[in-house]
Amino acid sequence: MPSARFEACLLEKKTLIDTWLERLMPGPEEEPAILHQSMRYSVFAGGKRLRPVLALAAYEICGGRGEAIYPVACGLELMHTYSLIHDDLPCMDDDDLRRGQPTNHKVYGEAMAVLAGDALLTLAFECFLGRGTDGSVSQETLGLLARRIASAAGSVGLVGGQAMDVNRFSQDRRLETLVSTCRLKTGRLIQVALECGAIIAGAGDEVLNVFSRYGRALGLAFQITDDILNVMGDAKTMGKAVHSDASLDKVTFPELLGVDRARSYARQQVDETKSALSPLGGAAWFLTELAGQLLERQA
Ligand code: IPE
Ligand code: IPE
Ligand code: MG
Ligand code: MG
Repeated sequence: MPSARFEACLLEKKTLIDTWLERLMPGPEEEPAILHQSMRYSVFAGGKRLRPVLALAAYEICGGRGEAIYPVACGLELMHTYSLIHDDLPCMDDDDLRRGQPTNHKVYGEAMAVLAGDALLTLAFECFLGRGTDGSVSQETLGLLARRIASAAGSVGLVGGQAMDVNRFSQDRRLETLVSTCRLKTGRLIQVALECGAIIAGAGDEVLNVFSRYGRALGLAFQITDDILNVMGDAKTMGKAVHSDASLDKVTFPELLGVDRARSYARQQVDETKSALSPLGGAAWFLTELAGQLLERQA
């Protein structure tokens, strides 16, 4: 069970992120209204807000105060939401349910879902490069951040991982290939979220490395539990379909290792997150607890 202190801290972060998302996104009546409604539909459908929460936590641990982090953190959530909309399309995972609601293409049609994803990705870069910022972060730092995020999101990051994931003809069922796919499709964005928080707070290389190492292990643990929940979880609690990986003949951790060994692999990664954080001591309590919660998560 998460501690009350953890729950309160998480809720506070999520509430602020939602306020900022509202501030940064075009309104539902702004033209082209149908496009903006489609973008807002997926962003405000729910979601754990994991990536912006991680960015905020790293920022605070590194002594960051003030509002400079919010547009960047929210940009990461916009980018993540684009990736989910595209991931659910019939040409990808062909899913009907996401965040407890019909997927974007089920409501707005495939063309609008593709465009909503494109526009969210573009809006994310506006946020990284200064939309909604108070001017306290230099353009040079924002430029470097945008470049780092672009690398995490592109063909050697999230998109590259998605390409490996959908390439079902490769018949490559080696664990090491699955690990690299997941590090790219899920891990890189999680890792860069933490790095952004540390960089905006002005952290030096040593501290930045702590967050990179933590994020790398957390990202993998997160995808392993996502795969396990696809086999063992409950669609209603998760707000998305179960057993869909098997029906698409996806290579997953439970399929390659069995559920028990997949769980212990996730546990090893969580142990690694804890070792990574040890130089930060008690200051990193929130991230330590968050990693531990991954093993318990039902959604
Ligand atoms: C789902 O991500 C896709 C993966 C990378 C496994 P989340 O589980 O963070 O989805 P939301 O944001 O809570 O909907
Ligand atoms: C999603 O991976 C990863 C990205 C969207 C980049 P999955 O396809 O395994 O995640 P779910 O189970 O649909 O959320
Ligand atoms: Mg997928
Ligand atoms: Mg999917």
